[in-house]
Amino acid sequence: MKILVVGSGGREHSLCWAIAKSKKCHQLICAPGNAGIANLAQCVDINAENIDEIVEFSISKKINLVVIGPETPLVMGIVDKLRQHGIKTFGPNMDAAKLEASKGHMKDFLKKYNIPTAEYARFSDIKAAKDYITDKGVPIVIKTDGLAAGKGVTVATDMDMALKAVDDAMINGIFGDAGNEIIIEEFMSGEELSYFAICDGKIAMPFGSAQDHKAAFDGDKGPNTGGMGAYSPAPILTPAMEKIIIDDIITPTINGLINEGTPFNGILFAGLMITDKGPRLIEYNIRFGDPECQTLMLRLKSDIVDIFMAAADGNLNKITVNWHDDCAVNVVMAASGYPAKYKKNTVIKDIEMAENIDSCTVFHAGTKLNNDGELTAIGGRVLNICATGKNVTQARDAAYMAVDKINWPDGFYRRDIAWRAVAREKMQK
Ligand code: AMP
Ligand code: GLY
Repeated sequence: MKILVVGSGGREHSLCWAIAKSKKCHQLICAPGNAGIANLAQCVDINAENIDEIVEFSISKKINLVVIGPETPLVMGIVDKLRQHGIKTFGPNMDAAKLEASKGHMKDFLKKYNIPTAEYARFSDIKAAKDYITDKGVPIVIKTDGLAAGKGVTVATDMDMALKAVDDAMINGIFGDAGNEIIIEEFMSGEELSYFAICDGKIAMPFGSAQDHKAAFDGDKGPNTGGMGAYSPAPILTPAMEKIIIDDIITPTINGLINEGTPFNGILFAGLMITDKGPRLIEYNIRFGDPECQTLMLRLKSDIVDIFMAAADGNLNKITVNWHDDCAVNVVMAASGYPAKYKKNTVIKDIEMAENIDSCTVFHAGTKLNNDGELTAIGGRVLNICATGKNVTQARDAAYMAVDKINWPDGFYRRDIAWRAVAREKMQK
């Protein structure tokens, strides 16, 4: 098979890595890819959001399966266009992708199907939004309706912060059109869990769990990022809790989407808050999490191409998904300054020394080779230093041993990824 992966991050590198291991894959292409992906796949210089060119390329190269990493092309309808031309895809169509494209739509859907989530209200009027906040008090959460690259959420701990979030979205327009409408919701407290289910339009199959760290700095402090590290499986997830998540959240969602005439194909990523009243859905994403995906791919034992094909063909009931017993940890190295302004084109050295550490795999995100053949950083999140081990502590130790080998003075990373899981393991000893 000829397989095309769309995207350029660490998530897509790990997907390419898993696909490249499959005997079914005879040619792997990535659009646009990065310097790490280029070691596994042929990279073509087409932006992930340039849908027409991706469709044309897929037709002319007779691609058998397109796997889409990021949400934006999905929300723009890449799957609909590819399918119109008879090209198999792994990912939801535009209607099903609305679950991530509009938080208001998602919340209305959750309410209609009685799926446990935070209480909320939708606003496109500034005064009404502020009156609601004043009435409810803080802490309170303000979200832009549309996609804002993970930055449209404010967890407001005081009134000024809450009212400023409304102004930022609706008057100052800092999220563009995404902030024309906002959602204000109840603050939930608890530990967060990323839960994944693979879907074929008819059924959903559990596809692993992970926990990530969104804050930029140690101690879960600092600004929110796309994710500074992750570990899998999530130690907080017990079999009893998984049953509740499947019965009360995933299954009603899949059936609800069928009922709405928008069956879901691809990977459904439930962002959950484990509250003292049980799991509550924070949000749905319609693609793999990044940095979570990297930890899932390292633990997956089954052939991913079989899984993607079964999902695309509506045949998930015919396969089983197997996992390694090992745990996996991913430590993200980012450019200094991220998630705000950061320097580009800084040189990274000694990556091979990290890769030589037992059980360690490095997935690239924003990397590129310069004209001198040196590896350079061109994005905010740049490298994913991953390792596996018998438990999270072992995996984390190996990952940090590898991080320490990398010579990149312009990068930074958190030193405490997986701290909760490590503390739990210490207590269990
Ligand atoms: P989202 O983009 O909706 O996943 O939100 C980003 C982050 O904001 C989440 O991972 C949570 O840490 C936090 N968050 C979102 N909604 C809530 C909520 N209702 N209560 C508490 N924290 C929240
Ligand atoms: N790590 C969270 C996300 O991918 O949205």
